[in-house]
Amino acid sequence: MSNGRTSGIVDRVTESRPWRSLFRHGYPATELDRMATMFTNFFLHVLPAKVHPNTLRLPYTWALGMATFYLTVILFVTGFLLMFFYIPSTEWAYHNMKDLQFAVSFGLLLRNMHRWAAHGMVAIVFLHMCRVFYTASYRPPREFNWVLGVLLWLVTLFLSFTGYLLPWDQLAFWAITVGTSIASYPPWIGETIRVLMLGGHQVGQGALLRFYVLHVAILPTVLGLLVAIHFWRVRKDGGLSRPEDATPTTPASPGDDGRFAPDPQKTYALMEVVRGGTPMVAAQAPEEEVPAWPQLLFRLLVLFQVVLGVIVLLAIFFDAPLEELANATHPPNPAKAPWYFLGLQELVSYSALVGGVVVPGLLVLGLVSIPYIDRAGEGEGVWFTSKQGKRIALWSFVGTAPYTLGLLYLNARFGLRRFFPEAPQAVVDLLNPATLLLVSIAAFSVGVGWRMRSRRMAAIALFSAFLSAYVLLMIIGTFFRGPNWDWIWPWN
Ligand code: HEM
Repeated sequence: MSNGRTSGIVDRVTESRPWRSLFRHGYPATELDRMATMFTNFFLHVLPAKVHPNTLRLPYTWALGMATFYLTVILFVTGFLLMFFYIPSTEWAYHNMKDLQFAVSFGLLLRNMHRWAAHGMVAIVFLHMCRVFYTASYRPPREFNWVLGVLLWLVTLFLSFTGYLLPWDQLAFWAITVGTSIASYPPWIGETIRVLMLGGHQVGQGALLRFYVLHVAILPTVLGLLVAIHFWRVRKDGGLSRPEDATPTTPASPGDDGRFAPDPQKTYALMEVVRGGTPMVAAQAPEEEVPAWPQLLFRLLVLFQVVLGVIVLLAIFFDAPLEELANATHPPNPAKAPWYFLGLQELVSYSALVGGVVVPGLLVLGLVSIPYIDRAGEGEGVWFTSKQGKRIALWSFVGTAPYTLGLLYLNARFGLRRFFPEAPQAVVDLLNPATLLLVSIAAFSVGVGWRMRSRRMAAIALFSAFLSAYVLLMIIGTFFRGPNWDWIWPWN
């Protein structure tokens, strides 16, 4: 009886005009309804109504792009909330952090979530870039999206870097002092860049305000815009990349299965293809695709819960660091940049020019030009392109680590400055581990490309060797460098 009355009320509500104006479809039970829901819902229309099964394969994407997006969402929400409790003033900022810790309900959880999501985003966006690279998903028509991605990566790093200063503790103050001094190494314009960033010659109120405005307004706006274009391009480029043979070929001649088959010599206007059965204007037949509702949507919801769950757990069990109040007269020894710049700091310790200018400059230039250099069609949508590619990636990665360690060891034992403290800077810039590493990795990849007669294999060798060297340098900078940037054992 009461059940009947409840369902009567539910029916009346769900059939009422206000309800129908908000939810135009009932629960989408049929395929047509599901497609209609995907098209007409503001949030869902960003997704396609149908997707290729390869898109859903976890071992293909590892869901890294969406995980990056979810981390961005978590950062935006926690960041907005943190803004209620933060004043960008050298007098207040540090005390606001303490208030979050001790006086604001859930303040510490909020700050921890923001901090771990930020570190997570720096790591995951990089892994997403690696996935896109190793599956050669930068090939036409996705070159532009790759370049956009490189911009997104830089904006992400810059967002994290600008956020680093805001707690105004010793860690923040000196990490930014070191980070901005790396930015000042380019000849002629370096000092101007630093002054522009800091609003003066040292980290102070001017820098805090600039970093704050960049962190909460300018960079998030740029990021949001770039992400929107990035997603739009994924749709316009025909969804995610996939191996050529992932889609069965279309019927050989028109009418084989009673449907329209395109003549490859002709271009078609819309009115020529809408009549008749299902049109097939590309090599891909929509029949092989699966509905995004529920296949894709369900996975996306689960992924969101996983990402959010991991961040909340990290925030519960690990507190974001907060050292003493920033003190410009007491530099820690050593002062270290944020962890993702520690590889650069290690290189800068050998040569400011090579580590601070040449390597970052070539890195960004190299990344942007990959799709324009490697244009051959081989192995798109396949991890490492082929078995050979996998071997090259593995050996380049594994081999570069001991080689890099060897160079650093030789430098520590027989380095120029050790025996010739007065050696001119130009000679030191030329003969130091940073330059030697750069030149040998470049020569190695050219050798691989020449031997294999393949630019793709050269690119895999270059990317993997560079990745290995950078990860190793980052580990060294984090754990094996002590006072005066001398070698230490982390357990001492
Ligand atoms: C805020 C940063 C970023 C976000 C939120 C993001 C998000 C996404 C998402 C959701 C996808 C679709 C599928 C997937 O792989 O999960 C995707 C695809 C793609 N992303 Fe990103 N991305 C970001 C940064 C980057 C970076 C740094 C690069 C490379 C330099 C990049 C290059 C690409 C390319 C080329 C595709 C198409 C891949 C394909 O067709 O297989 N993205 N991105």
